[in-house]
Amino acid sequence: MTIDASKKSIILVIDDSPTNLEVLSHFLDESGFEVWSDLNGEKALQRLKIAQPDLILLDVVMPGKDGFEICRRLKENPLTHDIPVIFMTSLADTTDKVKGLKLGAVDYITKPFQAEEVLVRIELHLRLRNLTKALATKNEQLKVEIKERQAVEATLRELQQDLEQRVEARTAELKEAQVWLVQSEKIASLGQLVAGIAHEVNNPVNFIVGNLGHIDRYFEDLIALLNLYQKYLPEPPNEVIDKIEEIELKELLSDLPKVLNSMHIGASRILDLSSSLRNFSRLDDAGKKNVNIHEGIESTLLILGHRLKARPDYPAIQVIREYDDLPLVECYPGQLNQVFMNLIANAIDALEDKIHSQNIDDKYANYQPTIHIKTKVIKRQVLIHIIDNAAGISEEFQQQVFAPFFTTKPPGKGTGLGLSISQKIVVINHSGQLTCSSVIGQGTEFVIKIPI
Ligand SMILES: Nc1ncnc2c1ncn2[C@@H]1O[C@H](COP(=O)(O)OP(=O)(O)OP(=O)(O)O)[C@@H](O)[C@H]1O
Ligand SMILES: [Mg+2]
Repeated sequence: MTIDASKKSIILVIDDSPTNLEVLSHFLDESGFEVWSDLNGEKALQRLKIAQPDLILLDVVMPGKDGFEICRRLKENPLTHDIPVIFMTSLADTTDKVKGLKLGAVDYITKPFQAEEVLVRIELHLRLRNLTKALATKNEQLKVEIKERQAVEATLRELQQDLEQRVEARTAELKEAQVWLVQSEKIASLGQLVAGIAHEVNNPVNFIVGNLGHIDRYFEDLIALLNLYQKYLPEPPNEVIDKIEEIELKELLSDLPKVLNSMHIGASRILDLSSSLRNFSRLDDAGKKNVNIHEGIESTLLILGHRLKARPDYPAIQVIREYDDLPLVECYPGQLNQVFMNLIANAIDALEDKIHSQNIDDKYANYQPTIHIKTKVIKRQVLIHIIDNAAGISEEFQQQVFAPFFTTKPPGKGTGLGLSISQKIVVINHSGQLTCSSVIGQGTEFVIKIPI
């Protein structure tokens, strides 16, 4: 609130003596004030409900409500509470003066009035009143400013928190992306290496497999010839008889087909392995391809074969396949193989843990570690279930297994990224779903759904 200097200050004079009222009003009017006057307190109180002056001159001794009573009422009312009140009292009444001041009056003037003194006191209190008002206004302004500032500070704090959270989230994303890049880079270069070796192995092995056919025939011919010799020359010379005994011809002839057969099996296994390795490590730079999902699963199983076989202290892990007739599926084969690898490797880890705890206390006697792989087509979706009968995942952990870096494995064994990367591959790159369900003590099932 600003103070308008051009506006006249209003003085309300309350006095029961018409003469006094007349004299004071005239004098104040002359001095440039606007003057309101009332002959009794009650009237003045009524008037004050409607309009308020800047200062009140109040007579102490009045019939009906005296000045003290009026002053008390003025101070009780918020409308008039701040208006400075100056008592008018006779020279001798010291107790009245004290009482008036105690009731909240700011000053007193004594009758008979000294015009100069009245004027000085009135002006002083008007100035004080104005200053107080200005101070109060300033105070209010400051309060508003402080509130505004606090609001700004709160907003800033919120913004900063928000920023920190964003930075944190971004950092986690970046970290994940970095690990993902390093991993896929490693896998890609490992894939190239493996594909290269598989390719190099393929030629000589094809050569062996091709020639094994010739060897079969050559041996058959040689054996037929030998039989002919024995038929027409039943009495060979001693040197030949000695040689026949030395080389144990009979056993040799019965062994030879078996040896040849196992060479066939071995060579075709090498061929399978090298084609599986090439299949598994096929690079995805050519984009999506139509592939046979079962081939990817089989390649993965073959590569993990050494972990499925029986070892000292570890029984073999049985793999049950329940394959439906699947159409070719358009996908990034290398990436999907990586998903199979992660899921099957996790299942093997879990089974090994369970076998390990079985070895410690023999409570799982007759336990047959098993991985069950089921595929089927439902509503234009290919479903691949990978189910193990290991210890299962607690409900609390089931919520977290797909979170990047979540692992229960010792440092160095797990990065906690296998499932998070697998989920990205399935959901983002193939518009599919990867879900987990598990029952503690019974096992875990992961289901991959890929739309066809
Ligand atoms: N078949 C399962 N049975 C029991 N727990 C599992 C199974 N699969 C995953 N988990 C739990 O989920 C966690 C996260 O798996 P994820 O593959 O993401 O990471 P990881 O196997 O620990 O490490 P990484 O795969 O990076 O080497 C595992 O540490 C394990 O606790
Ligand atoms: Mg894993």
